[in-house]
Parts: sequence; C-alpha cells; structure tokens
Amino acid sequence: MRYQRIVVLTGAGISAESGLGTFRDEDGLWTKYDLEDVATPQGFARDPAFVHEFYNARRVNLRDAVPNAAHLALAELERRHPGRVLVVTQNVDDLHERAGSCNILHMHGELLKLRCESCGQVADWPGDLAIATPCPTCAVPGYVRPHVVWFGEMPFHMPKIELELAVCDLFVSIGTSGNVYPAAGFVAEVRRQGRAHTVELNLEPSEGASLFAEARLGPATTVVPAFVRELIEA
Ligand code: APR
Repeated sequence: MRYQRIVVLTGAGISAESGLGTFRDEDGLWTKYDLEDVATPQGFARDPAFVHEFYNARRVNLRDAVPNAAHLALAELERRHPGRVLVVTQNVDDLHERAGSCNILHMHGELLKLRCESCGQVADWPGDLAIATPCPTCAVPGYVRPHVVWFGEMPFHMPKIELELAVCDLFVSIGTSGNVYPAAGFVAEVRRQGRAHTVELNLEPSEGASLFAEARLGPATTVVPAFVRELIEA
C-alpha cells in the first residue's frame, strides 16, 4: 500500500446507482425543485410544511435504496488499509454507513437525523417530520428541522476536514460536480500542501477536473472498485 493517509470526498454521483437522485444531472433534484424553496433557511421559514414534505419523500427513497459496489469498495479499503481512510461526504444518505464505512464526516448533515432549534439537540429520525413534531429531547413542538446543511449555512466538521486535507497523501473525489464550496475547493487546498496525489473518479469531468493529477471516468460502481483493488494490491 503506497499511501498512508487517504481522504475520499464523495458526492451524489456515488449514490446515483443506488437509485438516489443527483442534483445537477439532467433529471436531477434541482431540475424538479427550486433549491431556494427546499434547501435554504428562507425557504423553510416561508413554507416549512413543503420543505418537510421534500425531505420526507427523500427519506422514503432512501429506505428503498441499498449501498452499491462503490460504497462497499470504500468500506473494504477502510478495513484493509493499514493507514487511515476518511470519507468526507456531501451526501446526507446513510449508504456509506450501511456499506460498512466507519470513519465518515457528513459535511452537509444527515437526512435520517433531526435538529431542534429550541434545545439544539440532534436525534435519529428515520420517519416523517412535520411542523408540529415535538423534539424527542426537549418535547417542545414546532422547532424541529432536518439535520441537513442548507445553502447559506456553514457545513459541519470543517476544522477537522481542513486538518485531514493538510496531511493526506492521497485525495480522491468521487461523484461530485465540483459546483458547491467549500467541498469544490478541497482539491486546490490539497494541491497547495504539495504532497498528495489527487484523483477524480466521476461519470464526466467535474468543474475542477483540471486540478486533479489523475482522472478515471465512468460509473462509480465500475471505477471505484477497480481503483480500490489497485490500492489494496499495491
Ligand atoms: N457514477 C459516478 N459519477 C456520477 C454518476 C455515477 N453513476 N452519476 C452522476 N455522476 C456525477 C455527475 O457527473 C456529477 O459530476 O456525479 C456528480 C453529481 O453532481 P451534483 O448533482 O452536482 O451533486 P454534488 O456534486 O454531490 O452536489 C454537491 O450540492 O445541492 C448541493 O448539498 C447538495 O451535497 C450537494 C452539493
């Protein structure tokens, strides 16, 4: 194994073959919904019931989805890699967890969790959410929201992510269009530290494709297992 500290950034494309929609492909979520209405604090304040419906539908979708070969390959890499493997995911699904990955940071939050704006507590919540749903911790109704990062809000775990990017010797980006910061800026940060190899595994070149030292184009369920096999056998 040539690398000691591997950071893997994943986006919606790694879950596409599990049946979960991406955002910006031709049939993506943002072609069906205006992100201002369902993925901003202002949209939630305007019509919380509509936003809850949007995430309730995505939770139902997720219940029927299963991890694919790309999720499973990353979990195998974590199990068999003697060094450190960290998955930093923009995805709010739990497919990395269900595939067996343990070292995961959900920088955009988690669909199967809620957060109470009254007591601030985060709780597991796989079912439907509604405006009147009482917080499972403080029991106050009317203050729960999906524990998902909306546009204009700070992503989670950024200090830890920055530290890991600064010391990694392999940075792999999988299934992300490179449209949304700060994740889209991670490859430039890794290049600035000047030591790591950078690889993009994607269906098509992302916005940041030119910044990667290596690219392998194709569906995640093909390119990710092949790449992981090479890492493990190196
Ligand atoms: N295998 C690999 N890559 C794929 C596949 C696949 N089967 N299908 C699609 N892709 C690629 C697309 O080519 C695209 O580059 O996945 C990427 C999906 O891009 P987006 O839909 O923009 O999703 P993502 O990059 O994860 O979006 C980032 O934007 O809306 C916010 O919070 C949301 O986390 C999301 C963030």
